[in-house]
Order: sequence, then structure tokens, then C-alpha cells
Amino acid sequence: MASPYAIRIIGDPVLRQRASDVTEIDGRLAALCQDMYVTMYEAQGAGLAAPQVGVQKRFMVYDLGAGDGPQVLINPVITESDGECEFYEGCLSVPGLRFDIVRPSTVNITGLNLDEHEVEFEADDFLGRLMQHELDHLNGILLIDHLDEDQRRSAKKALRKIAMEAPSGVAGLGAELASPAKPKFGLFRS
Ligand code: NI
Repeated sequence: MASPYAIRIIGDPVLRQRASDVTEIDGRLAALCQDMYVTMYEAQGAGLAAPQVGVQKRFMVYDLGAGDGPQVLINPVITESDGECEFYEGCLSVPGLRFDIVRPSTVNITGLNLDEHEVEFEADDFLGRLMQHELDHLNGILLIDHLDEDQRRSAKKALRKIAMEAPSGVAGLGAELASPAKPKFGLFRS
């Protein structure tokens, strides 16, 4: 089955905007999630946030590959975070780049599922990292914003390569390349 969506790539302004809360959980949203599962599996990703398919809403789909099948989390919030660990992180919207990035090791998450039930859970290891990464997407934050200076230099090299190979639509890559290093984010964010 062909993927219903093209995954937006760094340089696309949609990835740099803060998504707004989901206000209606309906059949339309459920259908959108179904399409996002297909896109996520086709790209062999473990998670996909709505802005990555051009939808400015606060929800994500994910599958940890543990046999639970695909999951949806709507309007997720990190209510608590603890510890810190390094993880070799990649992103479907920043193809070809992976970096060791330090983030809290455990986060407490609240959100809604497609049945409009509130869910609350503690996430560590891979799930904890995935939650923080996808939540970043909902806030317009990308992997490269977490890099130190050395990592940033090699990221720029890789970004230039992406820019050369990218379809002409990726007009914002020049701006990503030109932007000065952003200040490091604090470890405890929501
Ligand atoms: Ni990502």
C-alpha cells in the first residue's frame, strides 16, 4: 500500500510551528491516525507526530514493536521528568542523521486516546525517549536543536547533502543551515 503522506523534511516550515490542541476526537481524526500508521510503518519509524505529515495538531502515533500494535496519544503533556541518559537518536524528518542526545531518562505523561479517555503513564527507556522526541515535534523543535557545537558542525554537513538531494519544495533548508546555534534547552521541560 502506498503511503498516504510524504513525511515532511527539515526545511519545511510546518516542522517549526507549535501545533495546537486537538479539540475534537472524531472519525476524521481516527482515519487520519490510520493513514499515519501506514506512513510510519512504510518509513520503518517507531513514532510519527502529526506535524511530520503537515497536520498542525497535538497528537502522535507510535509502535514500540513489542506486539501491542499502533498507539495514538492526543494532547500529550509531560507532567514530570527525572534522571538523565544519552540515547542515539534519529528522526524521519532529518534523514541520515543520528546523534547521541541527553534527555531525562523517565517522564510522566498524560494525554487522551481515541476513545477520549485520559491516559497517564510513566515512560522510560525507548518509550521515554520516543515520547520526548515526538513532543518536541508538537512544539516545533527538531533533533538538531539539542546538539552541541561539534555535533552541529557535522549536522550542517549532512544537511547540505540533504539540501542537494531534496526535492525543490524544501526551500527552508537554507535558513536551517544559516541559523546560529540555538541555546541548549534545559533538561526539564514540558
Ligand atoms: Ni522525529
